[in-house]
Amino acid sequence: MDIEQVGPVGAEITDIDLSVSEQIPVKAIEEAFLKHSVLVFKNQKLSPEDLKNISLIWGEPLIHPVFKGMENYPEIIEIKNLGEKYHTNAHWHSDVTFEEEPPNATLLYSLEIPDEGGDTLFSNQYLAYEDLSEELKENLTNKLAIHSNLGVLILSGGKAKDAKEVEHPIFRTHPETGRKALYLTEAFVKEIKDVESKFSQETLSALYKHSSNESYIYRHKWTAGDLVVWDNRCVLHYAEHGYGNQNRTMHRITTAGSKPL
Ligand code: SIN
Repeated sequence: MDIEQVGPVGAEITDIDLSVSEQIPVKAIEEAFLKHSVLVFKNQKLSPEDLKNISLIWGEPLIHPVFKGMENYPEIIEIKNLGEKYHTNAHWHSDVTFEEEPPNATLLYSLEIPDEGGDTLFSNQYLAYEDLSEELKENLTNKLAIHSNLGVLILSGGKAKDAKEVEHPIFRTHPETGRKALYLTEAFVKEIKDVESKFSQETLSALYKHSSNESYIYRHKWTAGDLVVWDNRCVLHYAEHGYGNQNRTMHRITTAGSKPL
Protein backbone atom coordinates (compact mmCIF):
# COMPACT_ATOMS: atom_id res chain seq x y z
CA MET A 1 0.00 0.00 0.00
CA ASP A 2 1.46 3.38 -1.06
CA ILE A 3 0.32 6.62 0.59
CA GLU A 4 0.87 10.06 -0.88
CA GLN A 5 -0.36 13.31 0.62
CA VAL A 6 -2.49 15.26 -1.89
CA GLY A 7 -2.99 18.68 -0.27
CA PRO A 8 -3.71 20.48 3.00
CA VAL A 9 -5.99 17.56 3.74
CA GLY A 10 -6.08 14.09 2.21
CA ALA A 11 -3.86 11.31 0.92
CA GLU A 12 -4.07 9.05 -2.11
CA ILE A 13 -3.64 5.33 -1.53
CA THR A 14 -2.60 3.02 -4.34
CA ASP A 15 -1.47 -0.58 -4.59
CA ILE A 16 -4.28 -2.07 -2.54
CA ASP A 17 -7.38 -4.11 -3.44
CA LEU A 18 -10.08 -3.47 -0.85
CA SER A 19 -12.28 -6.27 -2.20
CA VAL A 20 -9.86 -8.88 -0.76
CA SER A 21 -10.64 -8.47 2.92
CA GLU A 22 -7.83 -10.75 4.21
CA GLN A 23 -5.24 -8.48 2.60
CA ILE A 24 -6.48 -5.18 4.00
CA PRO A 25 -3.88 -3.58 6.32
CA VAL A 26 -6.48 -2.22 8.76
CA LYS A 27 -4.02 -0.71 11.25
CA ALA A 28 -2.12 1.20 8.55
CA ILE A 29 -5.37 2.51 7.09
CA GLU A 30 -6.59 3.65 10.52
CA GLU A 31 -3.32 5.49 11.13
CA ALA A 32 -3.41 7.12 7.69
CA PHE A 33 -7.03 8.18 8.27
CA LEU A 34 -6.21 9.93 11.54
CA LYS A 35 -3.17 11.60 10.00
CA HIS A 36 -4.71 12.75 6.66
CA SER A 37 -8.49 12.91 7.45
CA VAL A 38 -9.42 12.10 3.82
CA LEU A 39 -8.27 8.91 2.08
CA VAL A 40 -8.59 8.35 -1.67
CA PHE A 41 -8.33 4.68 -2.67
CA LYS A 42 -7.76 4.43 -6.43
CA ASN A 43 -8.84 1.69 -8.86
CA GLN A 44 -11.30 -0.22 -6.71
CA LYS A 45 -14.01 -2.60 -7.89
CA LEU A 46 -16.50 -2.81 -5.05
CA SER A 47 -19.92 -4.43 -4.88
CA PRO A 48 -22.41 -3.03 -2.33
CA GLU A 49 -21.50 -6.01 -0.14
CA ASP A 50 -17.78 -5.12 -0.36
CA LEU A 51 -18.52 -1.49 0.47
CA LYS A 52 -20.53 -2.45 3.51
CA ASN A 53 -17.77 -4.80 4.73
CA ILE A 54 -15.04 -2.20 4.20
CA SER A 55 -17.04 0.41 6.09
CA LEU A 56 -16.59 -1.72 9.23
CA ILE A 57 -12.98 -0.49 9.38
CA TRP A 58 -14.48 2.87 10.42
CA GLY A 59 -17.37 1.60 12.50
CA GLU A 60 -20.94 0.32 12.38
CA PRO A 61 -22.70 1.34 9.12
CA LEU A 62 -25.63 3.69 9.71
CA ILE A 63 -29.02 4.03 8.07
CA HIS A 64 -29.55 7.64 6.96
CA PRO A 65 -32.20 9.32 9.17
CA VAL A 66 -33.94 10.92 6.16
CA PHE A 67 -32.86 9.50 2.78
CA LYS A 68 -33.84 5.97 1.79
CA GLY A 69 -31.10 3.43 1.19
CA MET A 70 -30.80 0.77 -1.53
CA GLU A 71 -32.94 -2.29 -1.60
CA ASN A 72 -31.14 -5.04 0.38
CA TYR A 73 -28.57 -2.45 1.51
CA PRO A 74 -30.47 0.13 3.58
CA GLU A 75 -27.15 1.60 4.80
CA ILE A 76 -26.06 2.50 1.25
CA ILE A 77 -27.52 5.56 -0.46
CA GLU A 78 -27.23 5.71 -4.22
CA ILE A 79 -26.45 9.28 -5.27
CA LYS A 80 -27.52 10.06 -8.83
CA ASN A 81 -27.76 13.20 -10.95
CA LEU A 82 -31.11 14.82 -10.22
CA GLY A 83 -30.11 17.97 -12.11
CA GLU A 84 -28.42 21.08 -10.77
CA LYS A 85 -31.68 22.45 -9.32
CA TYR A 86 -32.22 19.42 -7.07
CA HIS A 87 -28.57 18.89 -6.18
CA THR A 88 -28.59 19.13 -2.40
CA ASN A 89 -24.91 18.74 -1.50
CA ALA A 90 -23.42 21.87 -3.05
CA HIS A 91 -22.68 23.54 0.27
CA TRP A 92 -19.93 23.16 2.84
CA HIS A 93 -21.00 20.59 5.40
CA SER A 94 -20.11 17.81 7.73
CA ASP A 95 -22.59 14.96 7.37
CA VAL A 96 -25.81 14.82 9.39
CA THR A 97 -24.70 17.19 12.17
CA PHE A 98 -28.38 17.60 13.13
CA GLU A 99 -28.11 14.23 14.91
CA GLU A 100 -27.00 13.85 18.56
CA GLU A 101 -24.25 11.49 17.39
CA PRO A 102 -23.29 12.43 13.82
CA PRO A 103 -21.36 9.86 11.74
CA ASN A 104 -17.60 9.62 12.19
CA ALA A 105 -16.77 8.68 8.64
CA THR A 106 -18.38 8.78 5.19
CA LEU A 107 -17.37 6.42 2.38
CA LEU A 108 -18.19 7.52 -1.17
CA TYR A 109 -17.54 5.14 -4.03
CA SER A 110 -17.77 6.27 -7.65
CA LEU A 111 -19.42 4.05 -10.24
CA GLU A 112 -20.11 6.50 -13.05
CA ILE A 113 -18.40 9.87 -13.55
CA PRO A 114 -19.26 12.72 -15.94
CA ASP A 115 -16.69 13.99 -18.47
CA GLU A 116 -16.48 17.27 -16.57
CA GLY A 117 -17.72 18.73 -13.28
CA GLY A 118 -18.82 16.78 -10.22
CA ASP A 119 -15.67 17.38 -8.14
CA THR A 120 -15.89 17.04 -4.36
CA LEU A 121 -13.95 19.55 -2.25
CA PHE A 122 -12.66 18.90 1.26
CA SER A 123 -11.65 21.54 3.81
CA ASN A 124 -9.35 20.90 6.77
CA GLN A 125 -11.11 22.16 9.91
CA TYR A 126 -8.12 21.55 12.21
CA LEU A 127 -6.30 24.24 10.23
CA ALA A 128 -9.41 26.44 10.23
CA TYR A 129 -9.48 26.27 14.04
CA GLU A 130 -5.73 26.75 14.49
CA ASP A 131 -5.70 29.90 12.33
CA LEU A 132 -8.38 31.71 14.37
CA SER A 133 -7.29 34.61 16.55
CA GLU A 134 -6.62 33.78 20.20
CA GLU A 135 -9.35 36.24 21.15
CA LEU A 136 -11.99 34.48 19.04
CA LYS A 137 -10.86 31.07 20.28
CA GLU A 138 -11.25 32.28 23.85
CA ASN A 139 -14.66 33.91 23.23
CA LEU A 140 -16.12 30.82 21.59
CA THR A 141 -14.55 28.10 23.72
CA ASN A 142 -17.37 26.09 25.34
CA LYS A 143 -19.97 27.85 23.18
CA LEU A 144 -22.58 25.65 21.53
CA ALA A 145 -24.18 25.92 18.09
CA ILE A 146 -27.78 24.84 17.57
CA HIS A 147 -28.14 22.50 14.57
CA SER A 148 -31.55 21.72 13.02
CA ASN A 149 -32.76 19.15 10.48
CA LEU A 150 -35.56 21.45 9.24
CA GLY A 151 -34.14 22.03 5.73
CA VAL A 152 -33.46 18.34 5.07
CA LEU A 153 -36.85 17.39 6.44
CA ILE A 154 -38.75 19.78 4.16
CA LEU A 155 -36.63 18.67 1.19
CA SER A 156 -37.60 15.07 1.78
CA GLY A 157 -41.33 15.85 2.07
CA GLY A 158 -41.53 16.02 5.89
CA LYS A 159 -43.34 18.57 8.07
CA ALA A 160 -41.76 21.53 9.88
CA LYS A 161 -43.45 20.48 13.15
CA ASP A 162 -41.34 17.27 13.16
CA ALA A 163 -38.03 19.16 12.95
CA LYS A 164 -35.57 18.67 15.79
CA GLU A 165 -32.60 20.56 17.16
CA VAL A 166 -29.36 19.45 18.77
CA GLU A 167 -26.48 21.38 20.32
CA HIS A 168 -22.83 20.79 19.46
CA PRO A 169 -19.66 22.66 20.45
CA ILE A 170 -18.36 25.16 17.87
CA PHE A 171 -14.87 23.79 18.52
CA ARG A 172 -14.93 20.03 18.57
CA THR A 173 -12.12 17.97 20.08
CA HIS A 174 -11.39 14.94 17.95
CA PRO A 175 -11.80 11.92 20.27
CA GLU A 176 -8.88 10.04 18.73
CA THR A 177 -6.30 12.68 17.78
CA GLY A 178 -7.13 15.09 20.63
CA ARG A 179 -6.88 17.99 18.15
CA LYS A 180 -9.48 20.76 18.02
CA ALA A 181 -11.45 21.49 14.84
CA LEU A 182 -14.00 24.09 13.82
CA TYR A 183 -17.34 22.25 13.68
CA LEU A 184 -20.06 24.22 11.87
CA THR A 185 -22.37 23.47 8.93
CA GLU A 186 -24.09 26.54 7.52
CA ALA A 187 -27.17 24.67 6.21
CA PHE A 188 -27.88 23.01 9.57
CA VAL A 189 -26.75 25.61 12.13
CA LYS A 190 -29.43 28.06 13.28
CA GLU A 191 -27.51 30.13 15.81
CA ILE A 192 -24.94 30.21 18.58
CA LYS A 193 -26.61 29.41 21.88
CA ASP A 194 -26.84 32.03 24.66
CA VAL A 195 -25.40 34.98 22.79
CA GLU A 196 -27.02 38.06 21.32
CA SER A 197 -28.56 37.37 17.88
CA LYS A 198 -26.49 40.00 16.03
CA PHE A 199 -23.24 38.61 17.46
CA SER A 200 -24.36 35.10 16.55
CA GLN A 201 -25.16 35.93 12.91
CA GLU A 202 -22.04 38.04 12.34
CA THR A 203 -19.74 35.51 13.98
CA LEU A 204 -21.24 32.59 12.07
CA SER A 205 -20.97 34.42 8.72
CA ALA A 206 -17.30 35.15 9.37
CA LEU A 207 -16.60 31.56 10.46
CA TYR A 208 -18.35 30.04 7.43
CA LYS A 209 -16.23 32.16 5.12
CA HIS A 210 -13.08 31.31 7.05
CA SER A 211 -13.80 27.55 7.15
CA SER A 212 -13.60 27.21 3.36
CA ASN A 213 -10.47 29.28 2.84
CA GLU A 214 -8.59 28.09 -0.26
CA SER A 215 -5.52 27.17 1.81
CA TYR A 216 -7.42 24.39 3.66
CA ILE A 217 -8.89 22.72 0.55
CA TYR A 218 -8.23 19.57 -1.44
CA ARG A 219 -10.30 19.24 -4.63
CA HIS A 220 -11.01 15.65 -5.63
CA LYS A 221 -11.49 15.03 -9.34
CA TRP A 222 -13.20 11.67 -9.60
CA THR A 223 -12.35 8.65 -11.70
CA ALA A 224 -14.73 5.70 -11.73
CA GLY A 225 -13.53 3.20 -9.12
CA ASP A 226 -12.34 5.78 -6.55
CA LEU A 227 -13.34 5.19 -2.96
CA VAL A 228 -13.00 8.35 -0.86
CA VAL A 229 -13.37 8.18 2.91
CA TRP A 230 -13.48 11.32 5.04
CA ASP A 231 -13.50 12.15 8.72
CA ASN A 232 -16.62 14.22 9.49
CA ARG A 233 -15.14 15.21 12.84
CA CYS A 234 -12.52 17.49 11.30
CA VAL A 235 -13.39 17.94 7.60
CA LEU A 236 -16.07 19.82 5.67
CA HIS A 237 -16.97 18.78 2.13
CA TYR A 238 -18.74 20.37 -0.82
CA ALA A 239 -20.14 18.51 -3.84
CA GLU A 240 -19.93 20.67 -6.94
CA HIS A 241 -22.40 20.13 -9.77
CA GLY A 242 -21.54 21.53 -13.21
CA TYR A 243 -22.17 18.29 -15.16
CA GLY A 244 -25.52 19.18 -16.74
CA ASN A 245 -27.54 16.04 -17.32
CA GLN A 246 -24.60 13.64 -17.57
CA ASN A 247 -24.63 10.57 -15.36
CA ARG A 248 -22.85 10.61 -12.02
CA THR A 249 -23.54 7.60 -9.78
CA MET A 250 -22.04 7.08 -6.35
CA HIS A 251 -22.61 4.72 -3.44
CA ARG A 252 -22.38 6.37 -0.06
CA ILE A 253 -22.28 4.91 3.43
CA THR A 254 -21.65 6.52 6.82
CA THR A 255 -20.43 4.95 10.04
CA ALA A 256 -21.53 5.46 13.63
CA GLY A 257 -20.17 8.35 15.65
CA SER A 258 -20.31 9.77 19.15
CA LYS A 259 -21.59 12.94 20.78
CA PRO A 260 -19.25 15.79 19.73
CA LEU A 261 -17.32 17.19 22.71
C1 SIN B 1 -22.13 14.22 0.04
O1 SIN B 1 -22.16 15.43 0.22
O2 SIN B 1 -22.30 13.43 0.97
C2 SIN B 1 -21.92 13.67 -1.35
C3 SIN B 1 -20.70 14.23 -2.00
C4 SIN B 1 -20.64 14.03 -3.50
O3 SIN B 1 -21.62 13.55 -4.12
O4 SIN B 1 -19.61 14.35 -4.06
